[in-house]
Amino acid sequence: MAVLPPRGVKPSYQFPRVMLAPVAGYTDRPTRQIAREKGCSLTFSELISARGIYEFNQKTQDMLDECRDEHPLIFQIFGAEPEIMYDAVRRVEDLGVDGVNLNLGCPVKKVFKTRSGCGLTLYPVHLVHVIRAMRKATNLHLSVKIRAGVNHKSLIYKMIGDIAQGEGCDGIIIHARTRLMGFGGQANWDWIADLKDYLDIPVIGNGDVIDPESAKRMIDETACDGVMIARGAYGNPWLFRRIEHYLDTGELLPEPAPEERIATLMRHLRLAVEWKGERKACFEMRKHISWYVRGLPCVRVMRDKVNQCETLQGMLDCIREWSESTDWDAYFAKLAAQGHETGDSLPPHRSVSLRVA
Ligand SMILES: Cc1cc2nc3c(=O)[nH]c(=O)nc-3n(C[C@H](O)[C@H](O)[C@H](O)COP(=O)(O)O)c2cc1C
Repeated sequence: MAVLPPRGVKPSYQFPRVMLAPVAGYTDRPTRQIAREKGCSLTFSELISARGIYEFNQKTQDMLDECRDEHPLIFQIFGAEPEIMYDAVRRVEDLGVDGVNLNLGCPVKKVFKTRSGCGLTLYPVHLVHVIRAMRKATNLHLSVKIRAGVNHKSLIYKMIGDIAQGEGCDGIIIHARTRLMGFGGQANWDWIADLKDYLDIPVIGNGDVIDPESAKRMIDETACDGVMIARGAYGNPWLFRRIEHYLDTGELLPEPAPEERIATLMRHLRLAVEWKGERKACFEMRKHISWYVRGLPCVRVMRDKVNQCETLQGMLDCIREWSESTDWDAYFAKLAAQGHETGDSLPPHRSVSLRVA
């Protein structure tokens, strides 16, 4: 039986059923905004250093500014020093975010060896002090995001769950892989089921959800309170609404049509330029463009051209030129011949093939 939380204060915010994961280098402000516009109920900031916040580091400040007045947003931090975590949470609270999340899953060596991210889970007593300091700093929704353990021999998710719940966290997200697994192999959903069975606070499952069917399967198999999606949402912000609809009705909404994908991609590009400036946005958007057009015809030449562009207008022109010169009728006919539905519903848009059904 897990330890019960010490406080009676309920945060006004609760985790929804489906959410976009924090992904460093991907879930920046424009990407989060697009996800929300297309039906995502909750987004997380990228991982941000508590020490960087404490020391007013310029890059960190820019990331903080990106998160101002954004809803719903949970701000994710990492760090290991209780006083610094306290201070960072107080400053984050001033941004008006909906909650704070402690990263306990980052596998990167640089973070791990400073006893942060996944490294902090190896020091449970210290972890208690870190979470206690964060809890003391805020009444906002407070959660932790963990991996199942460092490797298969140290599956410590229940102990970490005990600490999180005991110190008054409002929820826990478990990425069902160990640090050793990195982002490869198949996520083991049994660990999610086990943690859900053990704790009273909401447990969110993460790992290998890529479409409405896998989201439902994870909920059915683990009884988790919600699912978090990272790579499956790359270039696919429609996924969240499609999952919600499938969970509510059992009906699969069609994949977005090419026009919708192209229009969204162009809006994303413009938003990125607004937030980051033209040069940086054009560089960072290259990967997003590849993800948005994956599976559509004749994209290779367009992608090569876009990768040479350094201006918004140049990128938009490349995309338009490709879209106008593509023989969409032939494309639809080919899909129909393969037995796919045509009209509005279009090709299987698998961003990443992560889990075999
Ligand atoms: C490139 C990359 C960056 C990531 N950055 C973060 C991060 O900043 N914070 C975090 O908690 N998890 C991060 N993750 C982990 C994801 O949030 C998620 O737990 C993991 O990808 C498993 O989910 P998926 O199978 O849906 O991709 C990152 C993953 C990837 C691939």
